[in-house]
Amino acid sequence: MSALPDSPATTRNRNAILEALRFELRDCKSVFEIGSGTGQHAVHFAAAMPWLVWHTSEIPENHEGICAWINSADVPNVRMPLEYIAGSTVRTGSRFDVVFSANTAHIMSVGEVGSMFADVFRLLNPGGKFCLYGPFNESGRYTSDSNATFDAGLRARKTSMGIRDREELNRLADGNGMVECRRYAMPANNQLLVWRKPAQGIV
Ligand SMILES: C[S@@+](CC[C@H](N)C(=O)[O-])C[C@H]1O[C@@H](n2cnc3c(N)ncnc32)[C@H](O)[C@@H]1O
Repeated sequence: MSALPDSPATTRNRNAILEALRFELRDCKSVFEIGSGTGQHAVHFAAAMPWLVWHTSEIPENHEGICAWINSADVPNVRMPLEYIAGSTVRTGSRFDVVFSANTAHIMSVGEVGSMFADVFRLLNPGGKFCLYGPFNESGRYTSDSNATFDAGLRARKTSMGIRDREELNRLADGNGMVECRRYAMPANNQLLVWRKPAQGIV
């Protein structure tokens, strides 16, 4: 059996995220997660919301760890990872009620974030929601000193990484036919942003 990769941050943030998701996903039957990482969020959220099916996705290098977490958990409503690379590969022809992603927008390049919003629109059923968790700037400003330090570390690691502006994400959502519908403050200066695809019109 493969070793279980561990992301301690998921244990710290999962219950605050779950509280918001329980509300946002109360009528939802299917979720597509972008950038499932280790898979720890997926098994936790799927176990806590047995009325829906949680589909994981990742770049191929991370599939083994996600499979190991799913195999180790007795959670029938979580699915093995699909290949998803923002802007290049979406290995599914299905649509979903919700797309969820955590801590991906600051890891992807600006261009990849733009591609993710276009992909999300195609992945969502009419009326579906996009829930994006992470640290975000407000009007070009950091919301805390810790986010400024985090951002400097990201940019030192790779110049294309960095905390994104919430307003810029709203422009991307708007450009892809989605509207901001809710925003949750989360611990440690993070937020959960929620956009909705219209129920009717262009699908
Ligand atoms: C900081 S990790 C977050 C993982 C997990 N969602 C979490 O909160 O623990 C960022 C994830 O984004 C994925 N990622 C980075 N660039 C990507 C891209 N272009 N397309 C899809 N996923 C990407 C990485 O493989 C990584 O697992």
